[in-house]
Amino acid sequence: MSPFLLTRTLPEDATGAALRGDVLHGLTRTPKSLPPKWFYDARGSELFEEITRLPEYYPTRAEREILADRAPEIAAATGAKTLVELGSGSSEKTRYLLDSLPDLQSYVPVDVSESALTGAAEALLAERPSLNVHALIADFTRGLALPGTPGPRLVAFLGGTIGNLLPGEREVFLRSVRTLLDPGDFLLLGTDLVKDEAVLVRAYDDAAGVTAEFNKNVLAVVARELGADVDPGDFDHVALWDRDNEWIEMRLRARSALTVKIPELNLVVPFEAGEELRTEVSAKFRQDGVRTELVAAGMELTHWWTDKEGRFALSLATAS
Ligand code: AVJ
Repeated sequence: MSPFLLTRTLPEDATGAALRGDVLHGLTRTPKSLPPKWFYDARGSELFEEITRLPEYYPTRAEREILADRAPEIAAATGAKTLVELGSGSSEKTRYLLDSLPDLQSYVPVDVSESALTGAAEALLAERPSLNVHALIADFTRGLALPGTPGPRLVAFLGGTIGNLLPGEREVFLRSVRTLLDPGDFLLLGTDLVKDEAVLVRAYDDAAGVTAEFNKNVLAVVARELGADVDPGDFDHVALWDRDNEWIEMRLRARSALTVKIPELNLVVPFEAGEELRTEVSAKFRQDGVRTELVAAGMELTHWWTDKEGRFALSLATAS
């Protein structure tokens, strides 16, 4: 009996349909915007991995430090038999949890990328052949049904990716996470924290230009997938701190007046010189805000851990 199961809850063509919808909607509104999930084709995922190793990009290292220090406490507090990981990607930081949970029987990685899921599951099963791995190809922002694995369950959403959602989207998302939790289950949530503006902006505008390339990659995705005639070199990378909303915004600024033709959508998109397209919001948090958002979704904050420099936080919450 193989302990590896792969369930697809997304139709094969869901990605293409969603991209067309997002591009049509985002490029015909004012101001123009595209959702950050479209950064992550093979090249974009590689560039993000490179970002996590940049001296300026601290969140990955800060979160890893917390996991390395606190995994035994997380294990003791939860007693988890099932670990569900939303947006698992390469599951690299999850190892700290997997290796610290003594009662763990099942691991449920959830991702939109089938290749990320099967690659990570193979590596894991080579080391832990008795672990039940039930990978889910799913878009967790659109509601989710979990396999009937044993409780207590620990649902992990790491990396600070919740910051990519706008406040209203976060509310919907956290409520849908809450529906996954039975009494005695837990949510482990990674959030980047508000800090000095210069440190934040540097993390999203590194000296080597990797983040700029990552940002422009979304245009390469639109060009390849939808046949758009867009040249990423016609745009400049912009990263700014929105102090009222306490989020970083990444934008692409047209270097001159230009048009982008997207034949697959029957669309011609004009840009004025200097016009900006918003490609990402990366919200930064404070403990009070996280607690309030959890409470609004029917959860209760039980633990709050930060790295030694106080840059990043892991929150543990229960269903209330
Ligand atoms: C993967 C969403 C957590 O917002 O910091 C990195 C993505 N964007 N550099 C983040 C990202 C620009 C990252 N997350």
